Formats: sequence, C-alpha cells, structure tokens
Amino acid sequence: MGLDKWVNFFMILSFFAATTPIFSDSSSFTSKFLDLAKEPHVFDWMVDIRRKIHENPEMGFEEFKTSELIRSELRKLEIPYKYPVAITGVIGYIGTGKPPFVALRADMDALLMQELGDWEHKSKVPGKMHACGHDAHVAMLLGAAKILKEHEKYIPGTVVLVFQPAEEGGGGAKKIVDVGALQNISAIFGLHVAPHIPLGEVASRSGPMGAGSSLFEARISGKGGHAAIPHHAIDPILAASNVIVSLQHLVSREADPLDSQVVTVGKIQGGGAFNVIPDSVTIGGTIRAFSKESMMQLRQRIEQVIIGQAAVQRCNATVSFLDKEKPYIPPTINNDDLHEYFQSVATSVLGVDKVKGTQPMMGSEDFSFYQEVIPGYFFLLGMVNASVEHLESAHSPYFKINEDALPYGAALHASLSARYLLKLNRDVPVVEGKYNDEL
Ligand SMILES: *[C@@H]1O[C@H](CO)[C@@H](O)[C@H](O)[C@H]1NC(C)=O
Ligand SMILES: *[C@@H]1O[C@H](CO)[C@@H](O)[C@H](O)[C@H]1NC(C)=O
Ligand SMILES: *[C@@H]1O[C@H](CO)[C@@H](O)[C@H](O)[C@H]1NC(C)=O
Repeated sequence: MGLDKWVNFFMILSFFAATTPIFSDSSSFTSKFLDLAKEPHVFDWMVDIRRKIHENPEMGFEEFKTSELIRSELRKLEIPYKYPVAITGVIGYIGTGKPPFVALRADMDALLMQELGDWEHKSKVPGKMHACGHDAHVAMLLGAAKILKEHEKYIPGTVVLVFQPAEEGGGGAKKIVDVGALQNISAIFGLHVAPHIPLGEVASRSGPMGAGSSLFEARISGKGGHAAIPHHAIDPILAASNVIVSLQHLVSREADPLDSQVVTVGKIQGGGAFNVIPDSVTIGGTIRAFSKESMMQLRQRIEQVIIGQAAVQRCNATVSFLDKEKPYIPPTINNDDLHEYFQSVATSVLGVDKVKGTQPMMGSEDFSFYQEVIPGYFFLLGMVNASVEHLESAHSPYFKINEDALPYGAALHASLSARYLLKLNRDVPVVEGKYNDEL
C-alpha cells in the first residue's frame, strides 16, 4: 500500500471506529446466539412450542392452529407480521422494516400417517403426524425470532420470517413466491433436521442438493374382451407392460450417466379377473433429476414413449403430469456464494470440524421454488446424540426429534440472517450512514 492508501485506510478505520462500533467486529453480538438459544427462556420455550405443534399435526394448507400459534407468539414478541399469505402462511419482520431484506424459512405441515412411537407428546390426531420435523423447524424459526428481536437495534435491515404451508407435495413455497412475498429479498436460508448427522453438526453442499420431482400418470386404452379370444380384443395390459419396460430405457440409454436421474413406475391398475382382458390400464410414477433441463427432457420423453409404445400395441394413451394437484418441484440448487458465506458463519457458530459436506439427495424439497427467484441456501441440521439413541429416518412412523438440536437451528438462523445484513451493508458502502444512525 502506498502512503495515500494508508491514509485512506486509517481514515476509513477511524470513521468506522467512531460511528459504527459493530462494524469493527461485526459478529460480536451474534457470537452469543448459541449460548442464548440454550438458555431456558429460549430453549424451554422452543421445546414447548414444538411439542404443542407435534400434538396437533395439520396437513398442507390446513395449518390453521399451527399458524394461530405462530401469530400469537409473534404478537407476544411484538414482531409485526402479514397474514394470511398463501392461505395459512405467516410472514414476520424484524429490524428496521427497510432494505436490505434477508429471509428465513420454516415449513409447517404434517404427514398423513399414524405415529407409532409412544411418548408423552405424541400426535393427538389419528392418522396424522409430524414425521418430517416441520414442528421443530417452526420452533427453531420462532427461537431465532426471539433472539433477533432481543438484538433488533443492531440489525441493519430487515429479517423476514417465512412460515410456509404445504411443503409435502402441496407446493406451498410456490404459492408464497406467486403472491410476491419474496420481492426485494436478497437471499433466503432454510434448514432440515437430519436424523443421520451428529448433534451440533451441519451438512450441505454448493450446487445441486436435492432432486427435482414430478409425477406422471397415464391411461392406456384398448378394447376389453374374453381372455381366450385375444384377437377380438386390444390388450392394454400387454401395452402397459411394454410401456413400463421402455420407460426404464430413458435413464439407462438417454441420460448422461454422470447426471443422476430416476424414473419409477410405482402404480399400476387394470383388470380384475383372471380371464378378462380389461378396457384400460392406468400407470403412474415419479421422475427425479438434478437440473431443470433434465427434468423437462424426461417429461417430454415420458409422454412420447408412453403414447408411442402404446400405439405399437394398437392402444391409445393419455399422459398427465398432475401439475395442478401435485405441482412439479424444481431441483434444490444451492447458490455458490451463499455456500462460502454459510460455511464461514456455521464454522464460527459450531466450530471448524462441525461443518460437513454431503452428497446430493434424490428426495425433493420445495425450498427450490425460492431458489428459482432469489439466491437461496438449504442445509441439514444434525440431531443424533449417539450416547442417547439412534433416530429413525424422516417419514418413518417412529420418527423422533432430538430437541437438543433446537438451539443449534435457532442460533444458525439468527446468525445467518443478522450477519448477512451486516455483510450487505459492508459490501455496498452505506450512503450518509443511513443504517448507522442508531448504532
Ligand atoms: C419492493 O421495492 C419496490 C421499490 O422500492 C416497492 O415499490 C415494492 O413495494 C417493494 N415490494 C415489497 C413486497 O415490499
Ligand atoms: C384410439 O383413438 C382413435 C381416434 O380417436 C380411435 O379411432 C380408436 O378407436 C382408439 N383406439 C382404442 C383402442 O381406443
Ligand atoms: C448427549 O447426551 C448426553 C446424555 O444426555 C449429554 O450429556 C450430552 O451433553 C449430549 N451431547 C450433546 C452434544 O449435546
């Protein structure tokens, strides 16, 4: 550095030292977040909220009581919110109410399954269960809200809390995007509890993290008749069989072997008698891929193969991707810059050996709808305490949350959002100390 640059440097330093103490050590107020999240007034409160939600699971777009609970807690914390957003969704705001904006997301819905584990706070609703940890996701985002609210005066911008309905196949995130709730937001962070990762650790990756997913259903029509007189019938069962075999060639012969894809036919319905050729057969399945292009290519070829292969057997076929009932979910693609940012924040919150990489997952996550419109980052939060117990995988009727993970999620949410706003203020020089007045 030349002399003039040194002078400038010191002028800048002294300017910040005089006016903006937190910029000289921007993480100082966030460094206490994990300890704070473990204190009873945050931890016990989160546990209590999580158990209440667990006892009263609600399906996608029906999360009325869950949403009411969230709003009542936000009101107690004096956090303003918008409601309803996408039917049951709630969006809260902490900070100046002005730009820059950064968002944190929690999903709220449960699954249509019976809880089989037995414990004090098991689901009180027969056939419904929080088996994917969304009860914990809501509790952790509220925990982050409580911590951030206690430090609101240090937040140079606005943290937007997105409590989203219907993650489990309902496309709740798409509805949130469609109503414009993400306008002007610079980045969004989301997490998922992981029953295979140790407590106190996180795992994620840059780029593809979760697969895109789409359903398809096809009706293959022939002409029914007597099983012993096949030449008077047009057999849709034979056509469906050939269709299913041909669909398996899409991945094995047409996809790049290094670009992972799946085509699974999981459903087949047709015929009810041993000696009757039915009129029609319905098949259905799902496709998975890690890029929008691969997803679109698969969808196009699935339709061509079903119709073409059915025609070989003189049958007609119609194909639907059920986009209204079960919307297509894009692949979850983590933003590269946010990956670096996440690693540095997570390392400072958890420690350098606690921030791990992970393979992409074939499961899908509707957080991807946010990532289609703004930079987004999704990560897995460890829950396993090997000295206590093994945890069942998500969507198991025995799925359990290790509530000791709640403070980690809350502290990460709070740190990721607060430090991101500080970073934006640092990266884009602040005009006239606009956000510094109160510091
Ligand atoms: C986004 O910013 C624009 C320009 O400042 C403003 O007109 C608009 O209302 C903002 N949208 C939301 C949802 O806050
Ligand atoms: C297929 O569709 C064509 C045109 O509508 C029709 O003529 C034919 O009978 C159909 N075949 C079967 C097996 O349904
Ligand atoms: C794991 O559980 C044991 C027993 O409850 C506890 O002492 C320990 O602190 C837990 N580990 C972590 C990382 O919280």
